[in-house]
Amino acid sequence: MPRLVSTDMPAPPTVGPQDLIKAAQSVYDNAYAPYSHYRVAAAVLADDGTVYTGCNVENAVYPLTVCAERVAIFRAISDGAHKIVALAVVTANGGSPCGACRQVMREFGTDEMPIYVADVTGAYRTHTLGELLPESFSSDDLHVAEAE
Ligand code: THU
Repeated sequence: MPRLVSTDMPAPPTVGPQDLIKAAQSVYDNAYAPYSHYRVAAAVLADDGTVYTGCNVENAVYPLTVCAERVAIFRAISDGAHKIVALAVVTANGGSPCGACRQVMREFGTDEMPIYVADVTGAYRTHTLGELLPESFSSDDLHVAEAE
């Protein structure tokens, strides 16, 4: 059983959209966004059933900022997860994940993976990763190159 850090929540028997959104909301106030003042919180469900959270972490050197979604995904992978199966993102206005985060989701998730895009009230819409990142480049493309 991997050690869980404080914001990782043991997954209930079935983790639905509302559970993931609630997990993301629980770290919304931890967002470090002194420059943009735009808080983002995320939660991912890993293949082993564990929920990992993340918030955006900005930096005085602006490009070093890391988005909430990538913080959550990297926490999952570094804790031993291999795949992610769902993701929720929470912002004040229900903003959609950026392109860079969509590509990182593709590395560890399938086109069918649901993404719940929520606002702070918990209202959300559901997309699949394939909808948000159609015709994506993935490791599958590299495997074709290796075979040649
Ligand atoms: N941000 C995220 O955390 N996730 C996204 O998908 C879009 C943008 C953050 C980065 C930065 O801290 C702030 O939102 C404004 O761009």
